[in-house]
Amino acid sequence: MVRVLSSPMGRMPTEPENAQPSSGSSAAGVGRRRALLAAGAVLAAGVGAAAAELADGGRPSGRTDATGAPPPQAALPFHGLRQTGVTFPQPAATQLLAFGLPQTSAAADREILRTLLAAWTRTLSSAVTGPSPDPRLQDAGTARLTSLVGVGPELAARLDLAVPAGLADLPPFPGDRLDPARSGGDLVVQLCAEDRWTLAVVGELVTTAARAAGAVPRWAQSGFLPPVDAGATPRNLFGFKDGTANPDEATARQWVWGPPGPHENGTVLVYRRIRMDTAAFAALPEDGQNLAMGRRRGDGSPLTGTAEHDDPDIYAKRPDGSYVIPVTAHVRLTSPRLDGGSRMLRRGYSYDDGPGDRGLLFCAFMRDPAQFTRVQNRLAARDALNPFLEHTASAVAYVLPGAPAGTTLGEHL
Ligand code: HEM
Repeated sequence: MVRVLSSPMGRMPTEPENAQPSSGSSAAGVGRRRALLAAGAVLAAGVGAAAAELADGGRPSGRTDATGAPPPQAALPFHGLRQTGVTFPQPAATQLLAFGLPQTSAAADREILRTLLAAWTRTLSSAVTGPSPDPRLQDAGTARLTSLVGVGPELAARLDLAVPAGLADLPPFPGDRLDPARSGGDLVVQLCAEDRWTLAVVGELVTTAARAAGAVPRWAQSGFLPPVDAGATPRNLFGFKDGTANPDEATARQWVWGPPGPHENGTVLVYRRIRMDTAAFAALPEDGQNLAMGRRRGDGSPLTGTAEHDDPDIYAKRPDGSYVIPVTAHVRLTSPRLDGGSRMLRRGYSYDDGPGDRGLLFCAFMRDPAQFTRVQNRLAARDALNPFLEHTASAVAYVLPGAPAGTTLGEHL
């Protein structure tokens, strides 16, 4: 069952709290179940219309009611214990933005950071609560937006910020072709919405606030998901369902969110921009694709099971002694069984930046980025997908705990 905490901070009438599940619950986090969890959370916060839509997978469905009128667009909350960019069902489009802070004195830079986080709290909360101060958002009443703000490891070290001990840049991996102009960043913001318009306008407001505080834009990256039925797992550009084996809430408490204490509702984002040779992969026979992935392209089921959410059994063998899920299959090398049961929360998006440059924006959340390093070292050594992949950008950021109503992002820093 999903249990939901009511906010310790009370609630503003126009601004529903981004509620979250309480401890010990085995509330759902896997694919469609995450959508229901978020719906439950919102319902508990008293936002029935939003809940109804989130239960539908969080996508405006284009439904019309009996009168033929489209249903009203309910607001999404901004304030809450966790940031909505990690907890809410994935909207169809994303915009990642990274910024650098000037390097003056630690005291002056800390002040800039404080000013900027306060400005972003105002910008992001007013975008979702409406009426927006920006005329370009007023037609919609409110922006249906989820967001997260994260702090990069270099900035955290420079300003001696209170971040998780494991926050660090990733080591280089074999085969990396990283573009520094698309990587890193002192601050990373991820905006997600159903439409590009909202992302463009709110992205501009976020950037304007950053410049006003003295920060400089470093890179931006947009991404998208395919249209999917309510609750279904979206596919990536190889045509496979991507995001099936994500942790439930109880598991996420152990591996995704911080331990009890100041980082309890924070997490770490690992971002990788991975170019995919979709044409070459598509040229493989379907069987070959399934063996490379360890799952079936059609329904996403593991080669050792029959349904999408069956757990892959990496130890199952054929009569001839070979593994059913081959030794180089992606789901074997990423299996939690090879890593003490650890799980990351993957919320990837596809991108398309022109001919020959399309692929996956791998966005995963975990307590400790060393987990990514362990998995990526295994993948870099022998993932069957490697001939079709190239990692072209990378970033790590401490995703701040949410800001309950009346507070500002990053107050604990
Ligand atoms: C373009 C590159 C990639 C593609 C196309 C891809 C695709 C997939 C697919 C189709 C699945 C199976 C369905 C699912 O559980 O979501 C999967 C699972 C997974 N992938 Fe990837 N992936 C990519 C890169 C990565 C990277 C870089 C990592 C981490 C270093 C990673 C970690 C995982 C994990 C942890 C799982 C779940 C394994 C399990 O619990 O069964 N993937 N990926």
